[in-house]
Amino acid sequence: MALDLNTPIRFLDLVASHEEIRAELDAVWDTTVSTAGFVGGGEVASFEEEFAAYCGASRCIGVANGTDALELILEGAGFGPGDEIIVPANTFIATAEAVVRIGATPVFADVDPETMLITGDHIRAAATPRTVAVMAVHLYGQMVDAGDVSKACNDLGLAFVEDAAQAHGAKWNGAAAGSVGLAAGFSFYPGKNLGALGDGGAVVTNDAALADKIWSISNHGRSVTSRYEHDLVGRNSRLDALQGAALRIKLRRLDDWNSARRQAAAWYNEYLPASLVPLTVRAEAEAVHHLGIVRCVGQTRDEVSAKLDAASIGWGIHYPIPCHLQAPFAGSTGAFEVSERLASEIISLPMHPHLTESDVKRVAETLAD
Ligand SMILES: Cc1ncc(COP(=O)(O)O)c(C=O)c1O
Repeated sequence: MALDLNTPIRFLDLVASHEEIRAELDAVWDTTVSTAGFVGGGEVASFEEEFAAYCGASRCIGVANGTDALELILEGAGFGPGDEIIVPANTFIATAEAVVRIGATPVFADVDPETMLITGDHIRAAATPRTVAVMAVHLYGQMVDAGDVSKACNDLGLAFVEDAAQAHGAKWNGAAAGSVGLAAGFSFYPGKNLGALGDGGAVVTNDAALADKIWSISNHGRSVTSRYEHDLVGRNSRLDALQGAALRIKLRRLDDWNSARRQAAAWYNEYLPASLVPLTVRAEAEAVHHLGIVRCVGQTRDEVSAKLDAASIGWGIHYPIPCHLQAPFAGSTGAFEVSERLASEIISLPMHPHLTESDVKRVAETLAD
C-alpha cells in the first residue's frame, strides 16, 4: 500500500484513545455532575483498590499529581533535612524536586548507557553516610533492574523508592512497577500510559503503616480512625472523583494499549536506519514504551528533527538538559558523562497505542540515511 505522505503523525494521540472510550467517558461526566460528588468517594476508592491489585500491591492512595506522590512517600517515610537521596541525573526534574520539597538533598547518579537507567553500581558510587534512600526512576516505560537495585539498597541500608510516573504496567522478571520497592509514585498526567482527564497521581505500597501515614498527610493530617481529629500537620493532595472514574475506565484498556506500544517499538526496531539506535530493552523487562526514545548516532539530532518537521511528524526530547545541569541544581558535584551524552543524542519519536505499521514505516523512511 502506498504511504500517505500528507497526514501529520502525532507525537501522542490522546484524541484517538478517548474516541475509543468516548461513550464511557461521557457517562462519567454526567454521573459526576448529577451526583455532585467531586472529590474522593466511591469511584476513587474503587480505582485505588483496582490499581493496587494491578500493581501487585496491597494499598494505593490517590493524590493530586505524580510529584506529590513522590514527595508524600519521602515525607511519610520520615526523611527530611540532613538526609541525602540518590536520584538519576537522567530523569524529569520532578524526581529531584520532590526531594528538595521535603528539605532533603538530591544526590545525582549517572545511568547505564543502553537502558539509560540507574543501576546498583551507580548507587554504590553515589552513596555517602548521609544517604537514606534511592529514588529509582523506571524511565521511558522500562523498569530498573529491580534485583540489582534492591541488593544495592539492602547492602547499604537504603530505602528503595520507585518513581513509576512513566511505567504503568511495566514489569521486571514478572514483578510490576509499584511492587518492588518500599513504595512507588505514579503520575496520571494526561499524556502518561495511564492518564487522567487532568492532573492526578497515586502512591502504591505494601506497607500498611506507611500507606496510612501518607493518606493522613495528604488529607490535612486527618486521623485514619476519627474524621474530626488531626494527628499531624498535613496538606491537601487528593484525587478528584471524575479522575478516579475515568482512570477506572482506562485501566481496563491499559494492557491492550501497552501491548500496542510494544508492537510500535518492534516496528521501529525493524524499520529505523542504523544511524538511529532505539532504547535497549533488557530480556528481563516487559517495557511499556512510554516514549519512543532513539539515540541519533549516525545523523545529528538537528538533522533528524528537521526531517521530522518537514514531514509533519511530531517529536520531542526527554530530556535535553540533564537534571544536574538545570538552574536549581547547578553546582551539583560528580561525573555524569553518560547522562550528558544521552541528553545531546536522544530524540523521542511518535509513540502511542494507535500508531500503525504504515505510520512507523513513514517515520523510518523520512529518517532514512
Ligand atoms: C519521571 C517522572 N517523575 C515524576 C513526574 C511528575 O508527575 P506529575 O507531572 O504528575 O507531577 C513525571 C511527570 O511528568 C515524570 O515523568
